[in-house]
Amino acid sequence: MKTTVHVLCLEESARDAELVKAALSKDGLACKLSHVQVRDDFMAAVRQGGWDVIISNCALPDFDGRSALAIAQEHCPEIPFILFSHSIGEEAAIEYLKAGATEYVLKDHPARLLFAVRRVLREAEAQKERKQAEKRNAKLEEQLRQAQKMEAVGRLAGGIAHDFNNVLTIIKGYSDLALGQMAPQDPQRARLQYIKDAGERAASLTRQLLAFSRRQVLESKVLDLNAIVTNLYEMLPRLIGEDIDIVSILKPGLGRMKADPGQIEQVILNLAVNARDAMPQGGKMTIETANVALDENYARDHATVQPGPHVMLAVSDTGHGMDAETSARIFEPFFTTKEIGQGTGLGLAMVYGIVKQSGGSIWVYSEPGKGTTFKIYFPRVEDALEVQEPAEDRPRILRGTETVLVAEDEEMVRNLMQTILEAQGYAVLVARNATEALSIGHRHHGSIPLLVTDVVMPGMSGRELAAQLAMVHPEAKVLYVSGYTDDAVVRHGVLNAGLAFLQKPFSAESFLFKVRDALDTPAKVYGKTQAP
Ligand SMILES: Nc1ncnc2c1ncn2[C@@H]1O[C@H](COP(=O)(O)OP(=O)(O)OP(=O)(O)O)[C@@H](O)[C@H]1O
Ligand SMILES: [Mg+2]
Repeated sequence: MKTTVHVLCLEESARDAELVKAALSKDGLACKLSHVQVRDDFMAAVRQGGWDVIISNCALPDFDGRSALAIAQEHCPEIPFILFSHSIGEEAAIEYLKAGATEYVLKDHPARLLFAVRRVLREAEAQKERKQAEKRNAKLEEQLRQAQKMEAVGRLAGGIAHDFNNVLTIIKGYSDLALGQMAPQDPQRARLQYIKDAGERAASLTRQLLAFSRRQVLESKVLDLNAIVTNLYEMLPRLIGEDIDIVSILKPGLGRMKADPGQIEQVILNLAVNARDAMPQGGKMTIETANVALDENYARDHATVQPGPHVMLAVSDTGHGMDAETSARIFEPFFTTKEIGQGTGLGLAMVYGIVKQSGGSIWVYSEPGKGTTFKIYFPRVEDALEVQEPAEDRPRILRGTETVLVAEDEEMVRNLMQTILEAQGYAVLVARNATEALSIGHRHHGSIPLLVTDVVMPGMSGRELAAQLAMVHPEAKVLYVSGYTDDAVVRHGVLNAGLAFLQKPFSAESFLFKVRDALDTPAKVYGKTQAP
C-alpha cells in the first residue's frame, strides 16, 4: 500500500472534515486530506485526479451525495467511494451501493471509517494488480499471435523462394551460357542481357524473401558490433544524404555476439535507409550500442525473449514516425506505405528474419510525429572474437578434368550443371535422385572426386546420399546446392564449418569456382578434417 493516502473529502462543514481526518489518523495512517464543499470544487478535484479514496457526505450545500457519486463514477470509477453520513435508512444505503459506492459508514461510528478505508484500499490495490496482469497477458498473447503469423508467412515465403530459385537458376544459367557463346555484335545480345538482368532482379527479391523466412545460410561468427557500426559509419552520409545528422553512441567494452557480419550490416543499412525516408526534410539519426541485462520482468512482458545478458543495437530517427496500425505490420513482407516503385516492403522483413535467425529480438517504438526507435537485442556470448582468416589467394581456375557426380531432381537445373561443367573439361555423371546417384556410384569403377548434390530431393536427402556414397567412394568430396538451407545440412540455417555450399540461383562462374574450391580443399567430412 502507498505510504501517504490521498483522500478527497466532500463535506458540508470544515468541522466534519476534521472529524474524518482525526478518524483516519488515529491508527497512524499517513493521509493527506483535501476538503471540498461545493460541486464545482469537487468536479475540479476529480478531474485533477491523484486520489486514493473519496469520502463523501450525502447532504451537501449545492448538491447531494448521489450526484457526487455519479460524477465520480463517470470520471474515476476505479477510485473507491465511501459514503460517510448520518443514518439515511437501509433502502437509500442499498441504492448508493448499487450505484457504485464501495462502502457506507455511519457518522455515529467514526472509528469504522479507518477500517473501511484500509479495506477499500487493499481491494483497489488487488484490483489494480489484476488489471495489470490481464493487460500483460493480452499483450503477450498479441505478441505470440504476431510471431505465429510471421512464422506462417515465413514458411510460405520460403517455399516460394525455394521454387523460384530453381527457375531463376535456369534463367540466369542459360542466359549466361548463351551470352558466352554469342558474338559481341550479335543483335540478340541486348535482348538476352535484358532477360539475364531481370533474372538478377528477381534473384535479389527471392534473397530477401529467404532472409525473412530465416532459411538463408548464415556464416555466423563471434563479432564486435561496435566494429561493424564503425565501419559502416563512414559510408552512411553518402547513403542517407547531407540533411541528416548521424550520431553514434557506442558503448566502450561492448559484449560480443554471434551473427553473420554481412547480414548485420544489411540490418543496419536497411534501418538507416528507412530512417532517411522518414526524414525528407532532414533530421537526426542515432545509432547506439549497449550492454543490456534483460531480466525476468522484461522477459515476462516480451514473448520470445530469454532473460540474460544481451548486446543492444538501437537505431532512432526524428522522422514522421508511425501510428500503431502501421507499426503492427512493418515486418510483414511486402508491407509498405511508400509509393509504387519507392519501396518493396521487404527491408524490414529481411531485418526481422536475420535478427530472429541470429537468436535476437527486435522491437519498435514509434508515434506519429515523434520519430521512431528500433531496438534489437542479441544474446551476448563470452567466446573470443574470431579473427578473419585472410582470403587465400588461389588463382581463380574454372577448368578441370575430374569426374563429378551431379544429383539434382530438377531436370533443367541438372542439364545446366552438366553443360557448364562439361564445357570446362569435367567428366560428368548425372543422377535424377539419390537412389540413382548411389547406383551410379556402385557401378562406376574409377574415382569420383566430387559429388554435387541438391540438398532437398524426394526420397533421400543430399546429406544422406553423401553419407551412403562415402561408403563406396570415400574419396568423394561434397558440394551441396540448394534453393534454401535445410536443417539436415545447415543446423538452424547456420552452416557447419567445412561444408561446401552453393546457394541457388548461381551464376555459371560462381558454380565453377565452388566446384574447383571443393576439389582443391583438403578433405573434410561433416566439419571434421579427415586424417591424411
Ligand atoms: N524509421 C521509420 N519511420 C517511419 N516509418 C517507418 C520507418 N521504418 C519503416 N517504416 C514503415 O514501415 C514500412 C515497411 O518498411 P520496409 O523497410 O519493410 O519497406 P520499405 O522501406 O517500404 O521498402 P523497402 O525497404 O523494401 O525498399 C515502410 O513503408 C514505412 O511505412
Ligand atoms: Mg525499407
